[in-house]
Amino acid sequence: VEPVNAHQDVASDFAAYTALLEIAQRVGLSQMLDSGASFTLADASAVTRTGQVQTASLLSALVAAGLLDPDESSSTFIASVDLAERRYQAGYLAWTLDANRIYIDHCADFMRDAENAASTYRRDGHKVALTTQWIGTKGFYPDIKNEIIRSKPDRVVDLGAGAGALAIDLLVAQPALTALALDVSGGACDAASSAARVAGVDGRLDVVRRSIESLVEDPSPLQGADVIHAAFVLHDIVKYDDVFLGVLSACRKELGDGGRLVVADAVRYASDREERAFSALFTYLHANFMGVELPSEERWIDLFERAGFRDVECRRLRTPGTRMFLAHA
Ligand SMILES: C[S@@+](CC[C@H](N)C(=O)[O-])C[C@H]1O[C@@H](n2cnc3c(N)ncnc32)[C@H](O)[C@@H]1O
Repeated sequence: VEPVNAHQDVASDFAAYTALLEIAQRVGLSQMLDSGASFTLADASAVTRTGQVQTASLLSALVAAGLLDPDESSSTFIASVDLAERRYQAGYLAWTLDANRIYIDHCADFMRDAENAASTYRRDGHKVALTTQWIGTKGFYPDIKNEIIRSKPDRVVDLGAGAGALAIDLLVAQPALTALALDVSGGACDAASSAARVAGVDGRLDVVRRSIESLVEDPSPLQGADVIHAAFVLHDIVKYDDVFLGVLSACRKELGDGGRLVVADAVRYASDREERAFSALFTYLHANFMGVELPSEERWIDLFERAGFRDVECRRLRTPGTRMFLAHA
């Protein structure tokens, strides 16, 4: 009998990292961990607003798990070099099993009467935005960010911006840039505003609580954009042909010559070995619990072209089953 090699038993590691990072998130420690700066127990306790003993116990667990490194000579802690990758991996587990838990728990209700179940059982939008952000840190933000920076924009508009991570990242990297983050969720907009303050870029970020559908009637939030970006939000309106094309046409008109559209979104049932499992879950959940039939790669390209965009390019992103579409206005 082959001995079990504990180091290959990665599911147990992923489960542990996810739970520990979620606990750290809930007591407000994520930003401190992600900053890459060292901090003391007192700093951490001030953030968690729990007792020092309880905070010390959590920090010890993070150290024991290898997520945090202690510096005994200065009594400080700093995130381990692996933390960013662990957070990215934890994002998949947290998105799947935490943000979508209500769908899994009530799957039979959805299978019997999806419409009724969808109005009764709703996901927590903040959890969805946050866990998407964890996946995004390594799954799709880096490629999108590079692509946007390459086109040297003065103003970027991010549609369905969630907690604003990408826009804030761009503003930190590009001191002359201004941006607008639009989202229909009040929680997401509040999170984006407060994250922008913490990052010191709030003077260059407009946060607008609006639906993307409303841009057809009033495209003013798009004004002055050289790049319009939308990650994992256009699929929510793709089935409403007229609205979808109306939103894209408004984007193209406001971008004008030289402007670019950068979209990250999912395709239905990507079949490559590395993509198929997560893509299958993503496609199935969207179709059966959210009423969203994800388009194929070809269908996405066709939709962008029908709205008048040209030279539409499609690239694979690290997150399984996702693509970046680049188009010229
Ligand atoms: C999956 S999250 C993605 C967030 C962000 N783009 C990212 O990549 O981290 C989708 C976001 O789109 C927002 N959203 C969904 N439907 C929307 C709509 N019709 N108009 C504006 N925002 C919408 C949600 O509130 C949520 O914050």
